[in-house]
Amino acid sequence: MAAYYRKRAPHYDEVYAFPAREADLATLRAWLAQRVAGRSVLEVAAGTGYWTLAASATARSVVATDLNPETLAIAAGKGLGPQVTLRQADAFDLPVLAEPAEVGMAHLWWSHVRLQDQARFLAHLASRLQPRGRLLMIDETFVRHVSTPISRRDAEGNAYQARILPDGALFEVVKNHPDEAALVASLEPACEAIETLWLPHFWAVGATFR
Ligand SMILES: C[S@@+](CC[C@H](N)C(=O)[O-])C[C@H]1O[C@@H](n2cnc3c(N)ncnc32)[C@H](O)[C@@H]1O
Repeated sequence: MAAYYRKRAPHYDEVYAFPAREADLATLRAWLAQRVAGRSVLEVAAGTGYWTLAASATARSVVATDLNPETLAIAAGKGLGPQVTLRQADAFDLPVLAEPAEVGMAHLWWSHVRLQDQARFLAHLASRLQPRGRLLMIDETFVRHVSTPISRRDAEGNAYQARILPDGALFEVVKNHPDEAALVASLEPACEAIETLWLPHFWAVGATFR
């Protein structure tokens, strides 16, 4: 995963350039901007900063983290503003902020978290937020004939995709596509006040950590 996205960094933003996705993306940028307005945000796996930029329009502050400096370097070139700080960090070893954030967000990340690691990830993120922090996540739905096909499933039920980069390098990544019921069920042990938005190409979820 980390090596794949490190190598893909220069091409990554192409994922947001498909005209068919723009209506969903516009809806989601507004969805996100509304939910972080005036709040402090800790972002996990921020990548090249597409959603960091969307959130930075209204958030009070954003600490955007990613494991790969290569993706953060691209985010740094997006004019994110003085309210945004970029930090290299593993999603499972997030920084302890002097003032814990009110909101934790992770976009196009949940699908890459192995099913057996989901609860651990949620607990870790919650531990880096204020009590009863709000969780916001956006991710991709599986679109038949558009999404990369699932190449295999493992014994735990995780799905995998084979990804090929422009230089021909082949990677296998975990890519789970929960339906709405499965998503809510996976969050319910840790969260309440769960709201979902299901669009043709993406879903979004908001929830409050207990
Ligand atoms: C699909 S991209 C999502 C990027 C961004 N959130 C977005 O929605 O455009 C996944 C990101 O996870 C990062 N990543 C991979 N493994 C990670 C880890 N263990 N901890 C933190 N970030 C990781 C990659 O560098 C990549 O930027």
